Amino acid sequence: MIRFEDVSKHYDNHTALRKVSFSVERGEMVFITGPSGSGKSTLLKLIYLSERADEGSVFVSGWEINTMRDSDVPVLRRKIGVVYQEFRLLYNMSVFENVAIALRIRGVDEREVKARVFDSLKIVNLRHKSDNYPHALSGGEQQRIAIARAIVAEPILILADEPTGNVDPDTSAGIIRTFKEINARGATILIATHNRELFRDTGKRTLKLDFGNFVGEGIG
Ligand SMILES: Nc1ncnc2c1ncn2[C@@H]1O[C@H](COP(=O)(O)OP(=O)(O)O)[C@@H](O)[C@H]1O
Ligand SMILES: [Mg+2]
Repeated sequence: MIRFEDVSKHYDNHTALRKVSFSVERGEMVFITGPSGSGKSTLLKLIYLSERADEGSVFVSGWEINTMRDSDVPVLRRKIGVVYQEFRLLYNMSVFENVAIALRIRGVDEREVKARVFDSLKIVNLRHKSDNYPHALSGGEQQRIAIARAIVAEPILILADEPTGNVDPDTSAGIIRTFKEINARGATILIATHNRELFRDTGKRTLKLDFGNFVGEGIG
């Protein structure tokens, strides 16, 4: 599903990733770990092409995406659900509308939009808040809206950047459980986190970064 071959990324004169190579199989759930500043967010950005690698090759679903034309990027993005670290919710729209957007941009018809948004909100336990506005919800609930939006179109790949960054330990455990359920239905999931508690005892593979170097893998 994903393969990095000797991938490097430089910002000005800072190297965020240095000759990183790894692969993730279809259907896996994998944690990208390492301290703050180690390159985790950058690694995810190279997969959804918010940044381009400077050296090496990035393969997603068999395509070399790093050299993809800008006009083809939306085709790639439609296959991916992203949970951004800072949520990126639309605060002038209801919870329902925030999640529905992911389907509307894919041209799904309105009847199906309704059914799928409610299904997705049920998975993250926010069905009862569908008419609320995001600013009336807690940080943890806003994070769950972002997760519902990322999963609603049933993308083959889900990328989550510190998806438990703003929530208490019990809520974190619930979020990881939710990702495991979504993974069990077939989606490949990559979760970037600096928090070791998150992947402990999950039995999932961990890929560790440190100062932009790939420093090994383990099992959570
Ligand atoms: N847009 C940017 N411009 C300059 N430096 C950046 C930019 N984004 C990230 N960096 C730097 O690259 C390194 C890796 O950042 P990042 O991928 O965000 O790490 P992590 O997600 O592991 O905290 C950090 O030193 C960070 O300051
Ligand atoms: Mg980060």
